[in-house]
Amino acid sequence: MPTATNIVWHDGAVTREHRYSLLAQRGATVWLTGLSGSGKSTVSVALEQMMFKKGYLIYRLDGDNIRFGLNSNLGFSAEDRKENIRRISEVAKLMADVGVISTSAFISPYIADRQVARQIHDKAGIPFVEVHVDVPLEVAEKRDPKGLYKKARTGEIKNFTGISDPYEAPETPEVRINTDKLSVNDCAKAILDYLVEKGIVE
Ligand code: PPS
Repeated sequence: MPTATNIVWHDGAVTREHRYSLLAQRGATVWLTGLSGSGKSTVSVALEQMMFKKGYLIYRLDGDNIRFGLNSNLGFSAEDRKENIRRISEVAKLMADVGVISTSAFISPYIADRQVARQIHDKAGIPFVEVHVDVPLEVAEKRDPKGLYKKARTGEIKNFTGISDPYEAPETPEVRINTDKLSVNDCAKAILDYLVEKGIVE
């Protein structure tokens, strides 16, 4: 990818702290990673509702949805997934700079790409909470809500995560939830509890 040159950062008069104070909340990114069918989107929908009811401005970034627009030119090669995650990380960072708490539900299968997402946030001084939506492959495959595993097994879909492409599970995520052991609400609550414990929300 070409690197931009001859560019200079331009500060505004309204700062992040002004925006946070206007919204009475601080921005943050909750990053959900896991296999297709692990429950990332379902849990983030529940978390979104829970936090919205508590009065927080929260926005859901979701793999399939983002690929309809911003990332419609990206496929599922390792290079494209890397660029997918980089762009989303930058979007989540901007949203958090505004003051929005976002949930980013992406398979994000590579440790290195998630590390980049974390670094982008660390550099900007924005909380990044990695959540591993952890279910065994057999469980995700049995659920197969979109019929994609079936297609991956027959070879109709190539490079399918967990079948013909890798998934590198996080070793030390901030939160780990098992959607095959806990209810969707309990999973969302576990994330919310962590955010409260860390003082990210009240
Ligand atoms: S990634 O790996 O983070 O860039 O993927 P992501 O942007 O989250 O998109 C995952 C959704 O794309 C659909 N899909 C595939 N997933 C994995 N591998 C392959 N080859 C593939 N092809 C299409 C699928 O609906 C994923 O959504 P989820 O919600 O995870 O099932």
